[in-house]
Amino acid sequence: MSEAALIEVENLRTSFAVGSQRVEAVRGVSFSIAAGEVFGLIGESGSGKTVTGLSLLRLLPPHAAVAADAMRFRGEELGRLSDAEFRALQGVQLAMIFQDPVGSFNPAKTVAWHLQHAIARRRACSGSASGSGGGDWAEEAAQDLRNVGIRAPERVLASYPHQLSGGMLQRALIAMVIALRPALIIADEPTTNLDNLVERQILELIRAQQKKLGASVLYVTHDLGVAGEICDRIAVMYAGEIVEMGPARDVLERPRHPYAQGLLQTSASLERRDEYLYELQGEPGGRGDATGCAFAARCPQAMAQCRTTQPRLVEVGAGHVSRCLLHEQ
Ligand SMILES: Nc1ncnc2c1ncn2[C@@H]1O[C@H](COP(=O)(O)OP(=O)(O)O)[C@@H](O)[C@H]1O
Ligand SMILES: [Mg+2]
Repeated sequence: MSEAALIEVENLRTSFAVGSQRVEAVRGVSFSIAAGEVFGLIGESGSGKTVTGLSLLRLLPPHAAVAADAMRFRGEELGRLSDAEFRALQGVQLAMIFQDPVGSFNPAKTVAWHLQHAIARRRACSGSASGSGGGDWAEEAAQDLRNVGIRAPERVLASYPHQLSGGMLQRALIAMVIALRPALIIADEPTTNLDNLVERQILELIRAQQKKLGASVLYVTHDLGVAGEICDRIAVMYAGEIVEMGPARDVLERPRHPYAQGLLQTSASLERRDEYLYELQGEPGGRGDATGCAFAARCPQAMAQCRTTQPRLVEVGAGHVSRCLLHEQ
């Protein structure tokens, strides 16, 4: 993989022990994210997007088993780090914005307390290399809040999490993450609970801050419109696998995998408010046939061999791959 990659994931497999069963949530996912790149993971609910992000950050519960051929950060194998070494990275170099910001805050502490800790943590890790080692944290915190569009930072700093609206709290969380100056931000559907206007503002904010910091972003969303606005490259996940990956524009304008095509048609049909809503048939994320293509049972173009042969990712354009037997004919 390229030398400029910030994160490289090879053949990630994550499963959960549920009763006497094993649920395979991620089944051999490989991708890399370049420095300064926004990489999107899209797909229906249950396709393994969140579990992919949580696997990277070692944030899964004990009944999860995570295996990978490689998970490298700046060329260093993450699997070799002890939990203590990993924690030093996680939350500073690697930071996460969750769909529900509430869980990222201590309800008994003010926003000021949280920002002070984030700033202190970054300073402890970077010394004064960032040039802000000796500055007043309160001033920096207020500026971080202004950067995320909060006009009265003093009021927000003095607030407890429950005193803020969802949109305001999500902004405060983004400010907290930005205060860390992370190299990689994992954002998991960070605008899903917000209304449209706030969603647009938050998206612009993440993009602007990402550009300013030169950070890379792993952006998880089920919303293709959002993905098109923010992502440089996109991977489409289905039933724990990447079925298509490439430059955002190519994947969204010329999708090659039948699942990606269906997903786009559904999304376009929703946007046009069609009377006849195009809908993908079948269970979202269903594994379908165990031996062949995961999507075969729902695929309008399925052939007999799709039920018996596992498709590989095939190059269908420049930096654009798709996992479908139709490409191999
Ligand atoms: N903590 C867990 N325990 C057991 N199964 C889980 C757990 N978290 C996720 N899963 C399963 O893993 C699969 C992928 O989930 P997830 O990554 O959350 O999907 P997405 O984020 O794409 O909606 C789903 O089948 C889900 O039920
Ligand atoms: Mg999710």
